[in-house]
Amino acid sequence: MLKTSNPTSVNPLSTLYQPIEADIQRVEERLKMELVSRFDLVEELLLKSNRLSGKRLRPALLLLFARALGNVTEEHITLATAVEMIHTATLIHDDILDGANQRRHTATLHAEYGNQIAILTGDYLFSHAFFLTSTLPTTYPAREIGISTNKICEGEIRQIGTKGKFHLAEEDYIEIIDAKTAALCRCATKLGVYLGDATEHEIQLAAQYGTGLGIAFQIIDDLLDIIGTEIETGKSLGTDLEQRKPTLPLIHLLSQIKPGEKPEVCRQLSAGKIGNTELAEKMDRYGSIQYCKQTAKKFANEAASCIAWLPESAAKKVLKALPEFTLNRVF
Ligand code: IPE
Ligand code: IPE
Ligand code: MG
Ligand code: MG
Repeated sequence: MLKTSNPTSVNPLSTLYQPIEADIQRVEERLKMELVSRFDLVEELLLKSNRLSGKRLRPALLLLFARALGNVTEEHITLATAVEMIHTATLIHDDILDGANQRRHTATLHAEYGNQIAILTGDYLFSHAFFLTSTLPTTYPAREIGISTNKICEGEIRQIGTKGKFHLAEEDYIEIIDAKTAALCRCATKLGVYLGDATEHEIQLAAQYGTGLGIAFQIIDDLLDIIGTEIETGKSLGTDLEQRKPTLPLIHLLSQIKPGEKPEVCRQLSAGKIGNTELAEKMDRYGSIQYCKQTAKKFANEAASCIAWLPESAAKKVLKALPEFTLNRVF
C-alpha cells in the first residue's frame, strides 16, 4: 500500500520506484550539485526551489523507460535532472498565476519572497535545464525539451483565455491539459527511449504512454482540486475555482444539471459564490466525479496499452502500475 501523505521529504512513491531507486538518487544528487551559486540569496532560492522534493514523476518516467531498455547512463541522469528543473520552474510560475500559497507541504516561493524573485528563480531553472541539455553530444533532447516547454506555456496561456468559460468543449479541455501537463511527461518518456536506441515506432509508443498518463494525471489533479485535501496533496486547493478555470468536473456538471438550474450555477461560479463543499455535493449527485474517473481511466488504459513491446523487467512492471496509481492517487 502506498503512503497517502507526504508531510516529510520522503518521496511517497519510493516503494514504487524501487527498480530505479539508485538512479533517482543520482538525480537528487545532481540537482543539489547544479543548484548552487556564489551569491547567498541566489543559492538560498535554488535550494528552496528543490526543498521537500515532489514525486519526481517526470524523471522517474524517463529513467523507467531507460531501465526497461537496458542501462541508465550519465546522459539519462542529466536529462532527468533537466526535465525535473523544467517541471519545478513551471510550478513556481503556475503558483503565481493561480495565487497558490502552498506547494510540496511548504510555502510557495512567491508567497515567501514575492513575485519578482519567484519569476526569476523559475527563469533560472528553465535556463539551467537548457544549459544542461546543451552539454549532450546530440541536439535531439534540447529540441524535445524546447518543444514541450513551449507547449506548457501554450497550455497555460490558453487556459487563461478560457477563464469563466464553463461551457468549454471537452476536446478543448483535453487539448489544454495535453499541452500544460502531458507534454512534459511525453518528453520524458521519449527521451528515456531515445537514448536507448529505440526505433521511431517505439519512440512514438513511448510518447503515447506519456500522453495518456499525463492527461489522466491532470484530470485526477482537477478532481483533487475540488474533492482532495491539502494535508494529503501538500498544496493549495480550490484555486481552479478561484481562477474560474473550466476543468472537466465543472464541464461535466454543467452538461448534466437541469436546464432551469444552469444559469444560476453559472452565475454563482462566475461570482465565486459556490464553495468546494457545495460543488462536490452537486458533482456527486450528477455523476461528475464518476465521469472524471472514467475519463481518466480511458487515458490511463491507453498509456498501459503502449508498453507491450518492452522486454519483461522490474522497470516495465512499474510502468504497468503507474497508470493505475495515477487514478487512485490522493497526493
Ligand atoms: C503538479 O505535478 C502539477 C500538475 C501537473 C498537476 P506533480 O503532482 O507531479 O507535482 P510534484 O512534483 O509531485 O510536486
Ligand atoms: C498544472 O496545472 C500546472 C502545470 C502543468 C504547470 P495546475 O494548476 O492544476 O497544477 P497544480 O494543481 O497547481 O499543481
Ligand atoms: Mg496551479
Ligand atoms: Mg491542480
